[in-house]
Amino acid sequence: MAPTLKLNSGYDMPQVGFGLWKVDNAVCADVVYNAIKTGYRLFDGACDYGNEVECGQGVARAIKDGLVKREELFIVSKLWNTFHDGERVEPIVKKQLADWGIDYFDLYLIHFPVALEYVDPSVRYPPGWHYEGDEIRPSKASIQETWTAMESLVGKGLAKSIGISNFQSQLIYDLLRYAKIRPATLQIEHHPYLVQQELLNLAKKEGITVTAYSSFGPASFLEFNMQHAVKLTPLIEDETIQKIAAKYNRPASQVLLRWATQRGLAIIPKSTREPIMISNLQSIEFDLAEEDVATISAFNRGIRFNQPSNYFPTELLWIFG
Ligand SMILES: NC(=O)c1ccc[n+]([C@@H]2O[C@H](COP(=O)([O-])OP(=O)(O)OC[C@H]3O[C@@H](n4cnc5c(N)ncnc54)[C@H](OP(=O)(O)O)[C@@H]3O)[C@@H](O)[C@H]2O)c1
Repeated sequence: MAPTLKLNSGYDMPQVGFGLWKVDNAVCADVVYNAIKTGYRLFDGACDYGNEVECGQGVARAIKDGLVKREELFIVSKLWNTFHDGERVEPIVKKQLADWGIDYFDLYLIHFPVALEYVDPSVRYPPGWHYEGDEIRPSKASIQETWTAMESLVGKGLAKSIGISNFQSQLIYDLLRYAKIRPATLQIEHHPYLVQQELLNLAKKEGITVTAYSSFGPASFLEFNMQHAVKLTPLIEDETIQKIAAKYNRPASQVLLRWATQRGLAIIPKSTREPIMISNLQSIEFDLAEEDVATISAFNRGIRFNQPSNYFPTELLWIFG
């Protein structure tokens, strides 16, 4: 079982969890069930992943079969951009909880600091980025309005902890001025090509736990045929990473994951292959020498894959600009 990190909300969060993005609906319930069987306790979901019903089915089966109790799981979900208007937050959380078949999230995050016009779930769910066709339609909700609604979820028992994702320092400084409940976690893209040291420094100083996503860098984005992902050497195949892996007699993937956890982050790798799931969970079982951590950190090139403009036919929403 993975070690835990103490959140500023007082709860313990497993340091190694399981990512649910791009887990196909057809296999999702089985994948979640198997992940629980192999020892995962944290599941990182989202409205946008379009598979929360199936995730919940996997959880329900695991609980029914006595593999785990609800309180032993740490279930994370996220608020999609079209639900940022204050009055939209609670109803959509309730729908997401119903989809999962649970009555609280352990952690609920603002997925992106982008407020888009509301799309009713009966019209399209998950709503995605576009209002219709290629049109991106902003909403007027400020992050303060959304965060205040997020805070009310804690009081109502719908989320034990709340946090943010894809936020950068300037907006975090602003949020901390008015937050009555501070974000427990910040979830960010983090891999050796995107080390984000200053953002990590800020999070550490402010007591915000950081979760890394897309820990293998370009690997997760090849299927979108993103040119800058395709052109780069896959981190798992990189010669230096391979050499470090050989030194510890571990797969390169475990080195990439351990580099993140040794930097104090939580990780949420996704794999639908059972031996790989197990291997990713085992990445916590060895230590890299400080010099190897430093060598990997020196890979930094500031290359980001998960930004809205990479997914659109037209360039819009430069939120990391
Ligand atoms: N907040 C956000 O905006 C955001 C954005 C992106 C991701 N996330 C979260 O973070 C999670 C992880 O990120 P991710 O899904 O982008 O990427 P990831 O976990 O870095 O990698 C996923 C890809 O690598 C493969 N893989 C996994 N473990 C491997 C290993 N040990 N060796 C070789 N290949 C391996 C997987 O394929 P197979 O399944 O075929 O094994 C998959 O194609 C997501 O599932 C999601 O929960 C959040």
